[in-house]
Amino acid sequence: MTREEVLDSIKANIENENLIKHMLATEAIMRALAKRLGEDEEEWGLTGLLHDIDMELTGGDMSSHSKLGADLARELGANEAMAHAILCHNEAHGIPLETKLDKALFCADPLTGLIIAAALVRPDKKLAGLEAKSVIKRFKEKGFAAGVNREQITRCSELGLELNEFIELGLEAMKGIAADLGL
Ligand SMILES: [Fe+2]
Repeated sequence: MTREEVLDSIKANIENENLIKHMLATEAIMRALAKRLGEDEEEWGLTGLLHDIDMELTGGDMSSHSKLGADLARELGANEAMAHAILCHNEAHGIPLETKLDKALFCADPLTGLIIAAALVRPDKKLAGLEAKSVIKRFKEKGFAAGVNREQITRCSELGLELNEFIELGLEAMKGIAADLGL
């Protein structure tokens, strides 16, 4: 399974550009996490890239979201570890996070939303000038981007990462693909 094949499949299954950007951002954070933790960057990155591939096919139905996604990922050639991470990133199934890959996807997913929201309230709406400390401040403001699940982000502790370090790593990773994100 190549990254190009994954991208083709995403484009075939998803129309919403913002959803595709969310998946690209998740990929970037997953790659950075894998690098930081000495894990397989390609495996972790593609897991992030694929994780919401079924979102439009399932019409946002949380009882099927990520089950179909895991199947589609397998069809594309993802291994069982990747499929499992995709399956359990949707809490609705109540499947416990087991591996580091499971945990990484689970906490990286909502971090993208917090960082994008923090960039969009800046006058220039860009990531470049956004500092980790302002994202951390935004994290603590419960009313800011209220849909972002903070508890889920703090589960980075299960990977041995402090929240501040995780936010910093995520922000740097997303800055690296700012052009692709249009930010
Ligand atoms: Fe997601």
